[in-house]
Amino acid sequence: MNIILTGFMGTGKSTVGRLLANQLGRFHLDTDEMVEFKIGKSIKNIFEQWGEAYFRQFEKSVVKDICRNERKAVISTGGKTLLDEENFARLSETGLVFTLIDNPHNCWERVRDSFNRPLVQNFDWEGFLALYRQREKLYQSLPNKIQIEGLSLEEVTKKLLGFLSAKTGEFEISHGKQKTVVSMERFIDLKPRALVENNLAKLFVVYDKKVTRALEIKATEEKVFTLPLAATDVNKNLRQAEKIWKWLLVNGVKRDSVLISVGGGVIGDLAGFVSSTILRGIKHFHLPTTLLAMVDSCLGGKNGINYGAFKNSLGTFSLPERVIINPFFLTSLKKLDLSTGLVEAVKTGLIGDAGLVDLIEEKLDLIWKKDIATLEEVIWRALQVKRAIVEEDLYETGNRKKLNLGHTLGHALEAYHDYQISHGQAVAMGLLYSLRLSELLGLVDSSVRERLKKLFSRLELDIRIHGQKAELLKLMGQDKKTTERGLDFVLFSANSGVIIKNNIDEKLMLEAMEEVIDENIDN
Ligand SMILES: NC(=O)c1ccc[n+]([C@@H]2O[C@H](COP(=O)([O-])OP(=O)(O)OC[C@H]3O[C@@H](n4cnc5c(N)ncnc54)[C@H](O)[C@@H]3O)[C@@H](O)[C@H]2O)c1
Repeated sequence: MNIILTGFMGTGKSTVGRLLANQLGRFHLDTDEMVEFKIGKSIKNIFEQWGEAYFRQFEKSVVKDICRNERKAVISTGGKTLLDEENFARLSETGLVFTLIDNPHNCWERVRDSFNRPLVQNFDWEGFLALYRQREKLYQSLPNKIQIEGLSLEEVTKKLLGFLSAKTGEFEISHGKQKTVVSMERFIDLKPRALVENNLAKLFVVYDKKVTRALEIKATEEKVFTLPLAATDVNKNLRQAEKIWKWLLVNGVKRDSVLISVGGGVIGDLAGFVSSTILRGIKHFHLPTTLLAMVDSCLGGKNGINYGAFKNSLGTFSLPERVIINPFFLTSLKKLDLSTGLVEAVKTGLIGDAGLVDLIEEKLDLIWKKDIATLEEVIWRALQVKRAIVEEDLYETGNRKKLNLGHTLGHALEAYHDYQISHGQAVAMGLLYSLRLSELLGLVDSSVRERLKKLFSRLELDIRIHGQKAELLKLMGQDKKTTERGLDFVLFSANSGVIIKNNIDEKLMLEAMEEVIDENIDN
């Protein structure tokens, strides 16, 4: 994960970048210096000879080069580099952007005597201030703002180091003798041995191959075994579980061994299942790496795999010992995977925290830009809703069924499409379906559904999909919530919030499918 610094001119990006890189033992890159080096002239000369447009074009090619080659650097950017959307998109895919914010006087004091800054040379204080005011709003829209007013650049570096290793929350969830300690902890390298108190225990780390784009896994110590896996719902199956069981047994798994899973919902569900079955159960530590896993699947001990068309049909209830949520994993997550995580957060908001939906709507832009404090707030609030429900009903005999809002059709759609659509997208359609069904039953008007539709369109989710309605109805009948009394369906009522209703008229269930299913489209 790169650490990328931006901010108005004079916020000390270059010096702080150098200091920070030193402290972290990383490379330091400075986009202005790289342009100067490549062209062989100072920025002032480049501006005088070829103009700003030429400089900006060159700066773009430097950004592209960095993004191709670097994942472990501290990168200081020019004052305007990240105000360009293309540069921002490229760089932020490789790491975390920090925006240094200072008042204009301090910025001016730092740069007023600088000879190599073409923009400063064209300005007196009034001109500088006018430019600051003009760009102020743009910097405010950038993520991870660090207020540096009144701090020396050494203190700014310390503040950034503090941000990069902060523990921002912890709680426990327990059920009888089972307990999970959940913590929100930021770190930029993952050292498995540091997570476990028992120094003698063997550690088995199963991780999603893609997560190492964000964070390196330092697992060179003795008795630490690693297994990279490709994570998709298509291989959340018996074959993959068998592969992990074999790997554990061949490497001498013992009762005090710990299985550490680093991945999204797929790896978490799979590893939880394996850990609760091998040797009749060993400890499981889970480090969720997708937003969906952080807001939802990491908590509550539901483990499982798909079996043919039966989604999550083989599994156990077993709480992980520890859940460690590090939002830095999200830096390498694709936009679509962020969206699908937001869908589960929206679902949780509908169940128990209406303000969470407002928050997502208001701060979506900062979420896209991976603003860590905003992401942590979304995760924390969603987890508090789920925590209360799970503590009361771990084994899903009552209220926990509410967490399946949107999942009955969602799971049926996933199975129908051979797990080729994402869980989050399927749940988004499932939510719209549940709301439409609730409307047909006279429980709510269309306003909630219309609101979600708008939000899902901002999340760039496809919410109309091909399917045979009768076939989907059949698949819904095989849902895990079905008993001999029929299917328990989760609905939304304007007066009572989320409710559960049994045996809904099939005609209405088919009619509501019009909302998201089109038998004639091909997608
Ligand atoms: N156990 C529960 O309570 C529970 C709750 C909700 C969902 N689930 C399950 O969770 C699964 C969906 O979870 P998911 O959306 O996390 O799916 P996932 O694990 O497949 O991850 C989605 C995609 O993100 C990639 N990825 C993961 N971490 C990454 C990172 N840090 N950077 C870049 N890419 C990364 C994965 O390789 C994958 O391509 C489904 O199987 C669903 O049934 C379980």
